[in-house]
Amino acid sequence: MELPPRPKLFDFHGVSMTKCFTDNWDNVQNVKARPDDILIATYPKAGTTWVSQILDLLYFGQTSPERQSSIPIHMRVPFLDLCRPSQPTVYVARNAKDTAVSYFHFGRMNMFQPEPGEWSSFLQHFIQGEVVFGSWYDHVRGWWEKKQTHSKLHYMFYEDLIEDTGREIDRLCSFLGLSPSAEERERIRGAVQFDNMKKNKMTNYSTVPSMDLKVSSFIRKGMVGDWKNHFTVAQSEQFDEDYKKKMKNTTLQFRTEI
Ligand code: A3P
Repeated sequence: MELPPRPKLFDFHGVSMTKCFTDNWDNVQNVKARPDDILIATYPKAGTTWVSQILDLLYFGQTSPERQSSIPIHMRVPFLDLCRPSQPTVYVARNAKDTAVSYFHFGRMNMFQPEPGEWSSFLQHFIQGEVVFGSWYDHVRGWWEKKQTHSKLHYMFYEDLIEDTGREIDRLCSFLGLSPSAEERERIRGAVQFDNMKKNKMTNYSTVPSMDLKVSSFIRKGMVGDWKNHFTVAQSEQFDEDYKKKMKNTTLQFRTEI
């Protein structure tokens, strides 16, 4: 592989730097750390890799030992200044009608969501984007547009995952440059099947006190087309009418049944 020429030092706000660490500076400055994020800060060569490996083992050594044996340290503990948008991004989209239904039930069972009210009024709020995280239409379209110019963005569909989980895992792997063994792929495919995730306490949100699984499961139905059990014909027609307007001028297509 041909390597680019060595970088030149330049003055960056009074500090000698090379471009690869400063290109992403705006994003670095705007990073919103999560409360459980750990930032490792060092001057170069102080033992960054050593302490990174210790922390990774402390957090993930028991739960996922294969992580240490298969993923290089700089990917397990990434450099904030090198995390530029050209790094892989995985986006998952789901058709609007099933998303609205799933979101409604999520609101019923999760005290950290605003009260969803009746289905009919929740649906109007969803259409208007008056739900947490705003407009579904803007979200899926915004990322779809981004995908047209960012080759490192993998846009996935829930409906495709339901149709053929193994195929979608394969596509994800080829995007990420991963090549799990056939056994490993099968192990993962089995572990992420609906019934297994529903009974797995580490994935079914039964450990989260704000969620009342007696009201509705978090891993609830996991299907394409559950909207038909909720939308009246009139609601569906009104939704479709509005959808056409909001989703015109985009090549993004969803399946509401498979
Ligand atoms: P439903 O409420 O329609 O069942 P998120 O994780 O983004 O909050 O999405 C939750 C939705 O994904 C829920 O949809 C949940 O059941 C579904 N889901 C989660 N794991 C799934 C799986 N392994 N197979 C199918 N659907 C799954």
